Amino acid sequence: MDDSRDPHPTAPAERARRLTTLLAPWAALLVGGGVLVVIGLVVDWLIGGSGVMTGLALVTTGVAAALMIWTDRRRGTRTPVTPGRAVRHLGLALVVVAVLIQAVPYGRAHSNPPVTGEPDWATPRTRELMVRACYGCHSNEVDWPWYADVAPFSWITTRHVDEGREAVNYSEFATRGGSDDTIEVILEGSMPPAYYTRFGLHSSAKLTDAEIAELVEGLRATPGIGEEHEGGEHEGGEHEGGEHDDD
Ligand code: HEC
Repeated sequence: MDDSRDPHPTAPAERARRLTTLLAPWAALLVGGGVLVVIGLVVDWLIGGSGVMTGLALVTTGVAAALMIWTDRRRGTRTPVTPGRAVRHLGLALVVVAVLIQAVPYGRAHSNPPVTGEPDWATPRTRELMVRACYGCHSNEVDWPWYADVAPFSWITTRHVDEGREAVNYSEFATRGGSDDTIEVILEGSMPPAYYTRFGLHSSAKLTDAEIAELVEGLRATPGIGEEHEGGEHEGGEHEGGEHDDD
């Protein structure tokens, strides 16, 4: 036994080297995961993802960590580890997560229940503009896009339509009522939501100022939408029985 050598790797340099070897891939994983999360946040903001993309970035980071632990166990911890390995695991985890989420049933239905009662649109042009700008989320005539078949975009699209229909469904307006803020949200520019027409998507939903003026004029002459509801205390579903506009 050579006593001049410390049998335990406690020398500061050796300890530091071991620690670096141990932590480097995890640090790389954290940085990589952090980048994914930031991308998730930005994409969520751009497409109205409500945290779905951010959540998937976190899940992907978790899966990458699990993959790293699993391969370490399988090969023994002596395997030389590099930050590049963490990046490869993140890439692999991304593919695994992207494939697995396709099995989630939510977002497949693409429902379009029967139309039970549209507003009595003032003119066919009023309806045409509403269909272009609003029916993608507030009707039972949703034209489901191709990416509504691909998770997680299918989830996000379905959520927009579910929440949109819940707020106001122009296909059930006469039977179910709904928000009477139609004119207000159009004039504010809050509807259609900004994400809906980003990247040239649904370009026909982006109405020009002239079209907006034309639409608002038509809506003002549409019963149930144009009538001002003073007081604002009343919720949707209230009907003024039998009252009719006559020309
Ligand atoms: C991409 C889907 C989408 C499109 C297109 C869209 N909306 Fe919406 N709308 C929603 C969602 C989701 C909500 C509920 C959450 C919210 O208020 O943002 C909503 C809420 C509303 C509300 C209720 C808001 C309130 O404060 O009472 C009104 C009214 C409305 N939308 C009208 C419209 C009109 C009019 C158009 C067309 C000019 C339109 N929306 C286009 C998704 C959409």
